[in-house]
Amino acid sequence: MRSIDNILLVADVRKFSFPGTSKEADLKLFKDAVNNDIRLEKCLNAWKHVTGFQGKLHPTTDEYNVAEKDRKLSNAVVTPTDYKGRKRGQDPSDAKEDEVLRYRVTCERSGKHTFESAEVARIIGGELQDKYLWLVDLTTYHLEIICKLIGNELVTNLRVTHESKHRRNIMCFGPTTLRATVCYNLLRLANPNPGDIIVDPMCGGGSIPIEAALVYSQSYVIGGDNHPKAIARAKSNIDGSAARCKVDLVHWSVSQLPFKDSYVDIVVTDMPFGRRSGRMTDNRVLYKQFLLELGRFLKLSKGRAVLLTYDRRSFNMALKTTGDLFRVTKMLGVNIGGLQAAVYVLKRTDVLYEQFKPRTNKHTK
Ligand SMILES: C[S@@+](CC[C@H](N)C(=O)[O-])C[C@H]1O[C@@H](n2cnc3c(N)ncnc32)[C@H](O)[C@@H]1O
Repeated sequence: MRSIDNILLVADVRKFSFPGTSKEADLKLFKDAVNNDIRLEKCLNAWKHVTGFQGKLHPTTDEYNVAEKDRKLSNAVVTPTDYKGRKRGQDPSDAKEDEVLRYRVTCERSGKHTFESAEVARIIGGELQDKYLWLVDLTTYHLEIICKLIGNELVTNLRVTHESKHRRNIMCFGPTTLRATVCYNLLRLANPNPGDIIVDPMCGGGSIPIEAALVYSQSYVIGGDNHPKAIARAKSNIDGSAARCKVDLVHWSVSQLPFKDSYVDIVVTDMPFGRRSGRMTDNRVLYKQFLLELGRFLKLSKGRAVLLTYDRRSFNMALKTTGDLFRVTKMLGVNIGGLQAAVYVLKRTDVLYEQFKPRTNKHTK
């Protein structure tokens, strides 16, 4: 579950035959479906159970009228607590027993239609309000209903996670902060064992070491970076992390790391890249220095490295210079925030660092 950003409950799946003669005729199908066919009760109960919502899911007309009147009178729209606009609604488990459910409907749509996504959300939202007597609230809602319309198929989902789980560890986000969910997946690729030394030598704000220390608490986790601000940010994130995880932080450069030869079990890192951090030209030099250094301090025969890079070209050139020090056991293409990246899983061979044969050709100099 640590690799999952958001959880949605699928409440209803149905197909429509849109007449396509007018927008009104097409939208009417959604209205009729909510009124006559869509049954959310079972899924709503599951949502209440998993989110811990204690408020009123099925208010009476009187309860609804009182809640709506109170809201208008006080005009007090509860602002979501200080989450800089990134939080989705309000944590349902914070609702008091006498609170009527606040909700919003959003629509994500693909395909050609006579209507816009916002119109679908408005129609379905309006009908649900009549049916369940909930309060519409676009910002401080307890429940978000996400309607995904792909072609003529509508999937109605109830959001369980009011905030993406990828934000779980980090207090100070930087321009290149990696999602905790992605960090978890990278770490899993390294398959850590109890007692392993896990190093992120270019840790930035510390997202990989923090996730490593929380999940693999029997390991010794070290993070380092050559940027003093990155180390300060990583320290704040570690101090602020829920479990106050144990990570050692060091200011260093990856071209020369303070480890004995054949010492570290696992290296997991998110390498600097062209557009957000570093420059392509620098990468060529840096990647080469780093991979050679990695070949020196990673444990012979069993050391593993999981390296995320957005600059495959520099990476492949650098990898060639390391000759037979590594075996590539996996290479995955990944999309990180819209950028195409690659994850390389390397295994250290049993070739001694002093004896490795660099592959030299005109492209690898
Ligand atoms: C893509 S960022 C890592 C982001 C990090 N995973 C996070 O979530 O915050 C790459 C990092 O490599 C660091 N870096 C670049 N050159 C380095 C070097 N020679 N030695 C150590 N760190 C370096 C940069 O300062 C930057 O923080």
